Amino acid sequence: MLGLLHDGINRNRRTRLKSEISRLAPWFHNLHMPDGTQTAPDHALGDFPSYKWREIAAFLPEDLTGWSVLDIGCNAGFYSFQLASRGANVEGIDSNLHYLSQAKWASKHFDVKNRVHFEKKTGVRIGPKQKDL
Ligand SMILES: C[S@@+](CC[C@H](N)C(=O)[O-])C[C@H]1O[C@@H](n2cnc3c(N)ncnc32)[C@H](O)[C@@H]1O
Repeated sequence: MLGLLHDGINRNRRTRLKSEISRLAPWFHNLHMPDGTQTAPDHALGDFPSYKWREIAAFLPEDLTGWSVLDIGCNAGFYSFQLASRGANVEGIDSNLHYLSQAKWASKHFDVKNRVHFEKKTGVRIGPKQKDL
């Protein structure tokens, strides 16, 4: 009985998540949400940018705790979330409000929301020692 109730709750959650994803379409980043739902499962470039991240990820330290990262042209925040999940504090900037709304929405679903911050900016002045990556 309790199992059936949980199934129903999970189905409702997934339906709501999918409708929010549709509302925010079109997506350039195929984010994999915590429950496995993808934001752009039919992306023309495949599972983008996960396949690119797999090539880069090995060259970055597993533990980025304390790192300060700037993600320029963050789009829906794929790389920001990956880096924050390794402990970095990430500032994601983009000029496009549509993509920023996707990133801000997604940040509420990932367990890194206190370490990512998204903002509309077209450029930043970076001094020496201000960012680690
Ligand atoms: C081709 S997408 C790349 C997204 C992501 N960096 C990636 O590699 O998957 C380029 C992104 O940069 C943003 N962008 C373009 N010009 C920009 C500018 N001058 N300042 C901030 N963001 C910009 C776009 O809105 C878009 O989200």
